[in-house]
Parts: sequence; C-alpha cells; structure tokens
Amino acid sequence: MHADKPKMTLGVNIDHIAVLREARKINDPDPSMALAVCAQNGADQITIHLREDRRHIHDDDARRIISLSPLPVNLECSIEPSIIDIITEMRPHRATLVPEKREEVTTEGGLDVTGHFDQILITINKLKDAGIEISLFIDPTREAVETSERLGAEWVELHTGSYANLYAMRHTALPHSHHAIDALKLSRQELDNRIEQAYGALVDAANYARSLGLKVAAGHGLNYQNVTSIVSIDTIEELNIGQSIIARSVFTGLATAVSDMKSLCQR
Ligand code: PXP
Repeated sequence: MHADKPKMTLGVNIDHIAVLREARKINDPDPSMALAVCAQNGADQITIHLREDRRHIHDDDARRIISLSPLPVNLECSIEPSIIDIITEMRPHRATLVPEKREEVTTEGGLDVTGHFDQILITINKLKDAGIEISLFIDPTREAVETSERLGAEWVELHTGSYANLYAMRHTALPHSHHAIDALKLSRQELDNRIEQAYGALVDAANYARSLGLKVAAGHGLNYQNVTSIVSIDTIEELNIGQSIIARSVFTGLATAVSDMKSLCQR
C-alpha cells in the first residue's frame, strides 16, 4: 500500500437482500438491517436501485434506508419523470442515473448520454435543485465521459460489466452466458485480448474523466477475484458492489463479506 495513492471507497449495493425477500413476498430479510453491519465493517456508502417495476427495493425501503443510514445513500434510478419526482422528494445524498429496461436481468450497458442529452439535462437540473449530487452510469468511452461533463454531472460511474463478463468467461467455468459474447467461440488468447481491451477502456475513460474534473466511480459485476485490477486504477475513487458481496454473505455473514471486500479495496 502506498501512502500517496488516493483512497478507494466502497459502496455496498444491498438490493439483493430485497431480492431474497421478494422470493417469498414477505418482510424478511429486511435490507435496512444491513445498514449498521455495512457501516461497522468498512463500507463508505450504501447503494440501492429503485427500479420502475419495484422488483426488489420498494419506495418504503428507500425512504427507511435514507432516513436510517449512518452512511451516505447513493440511489440508482432511471430518468423516467415519475421516478425522478419520487427521488427528488426522498433526497438521497446522490442519484446515479442508469438506463433501465423492464425485461433485463440487470443494468446492461451505460446510459446513452448523447441520445438522451436533453432529457438528462432536465433531470439533472431537477435533482440538483433538490440538493442531490449527480452521477451518470456510462460505458467507458471518451464520448460518454465528455458528454457527462457537459451535462454538469459531478460523478461518472464507469460500467465494468464488459470487463467482468470477459473475466468470468476466462477464469471461471461459466457454463453459459446471457451476454452478447459467446465464450465457447473465443480462444483463451482471444479472451485475454478482449479483457485487456475492456480494461484499457476503463483506464482511459477514468483518466480522461479525472482530467476533466469529474469524480470517478465504477461498478457492475465486480467480485473478489476481478476487483484487484480495478482498484489499481488510481483515477477511480469509488466502487459500487452488490451481487458478489451479498452472495458471499450467505456463507460468511455480511460483516465478513463486507470487510473482505474492503480489504481488497486498500491501495
Ligand atoms: N453500479 C450500478 C450503477 C448498478 O446498476 C449496479 C447493479 O445494480 C451496481 C453498481 C452493482 O452491480 P453488482 O450487483 O453486479 O455488483
């Protein structure tokens, strides 16, 4: 660890606790019970996603989490006006604007900041008027970074999904994938080349964003294996990680799962 390296902070995405609850449609487990455990074990932020279909986090959860959390709450949401009205009223510390399709399993791809420029600008101004910090979840490209800066975002969150999916195909026995790249058709060498490309895009986008004065977060598909090389990108200062931490917590408990991930975030 080098003393002069910028600190990496960890946002723990607790949506998957609500996913488990929704499997039975009862009130257990309650995601707000995770707040103290995350705070006591090294998390710097709580992240939740209020999806349009409310498939996991509900409005009541979001309100309770925002009011009870000892840590800043980063609320991910789409740019749908009815959702933005709710977020404006809830006043989380930060809103991260993400693309959302009802049929997707999870957030696939970054926000099209160029295609939806005008609507995003209106959304950002509304949220800023409510005193909410803005982050845009984007693909790691210079164009998306530059457009985010023009839109007045304080943060960009770089989508690490391509890197994470390729890493999983190369290093684990992922039997099949709902993602676009068919692992079976790629040799190990080709996968290595693609991982290098995906990683290079993250490094370049993070450095470029930082040079424009943006703060840089990253997330999606990060886990205990693939996170180390992302932590080594000095211009990224925050990671938002959910699925892998909650999955591990089934076996280790949430306290250990959070503190193990926090240890991997040390520079
Ligand atoms: N960041 C954003 C913007 C997301 O949409 C998600 C998924 O909800 C995450 C981070 C966390 O992704 P994962 O659950 O794969 O760690």
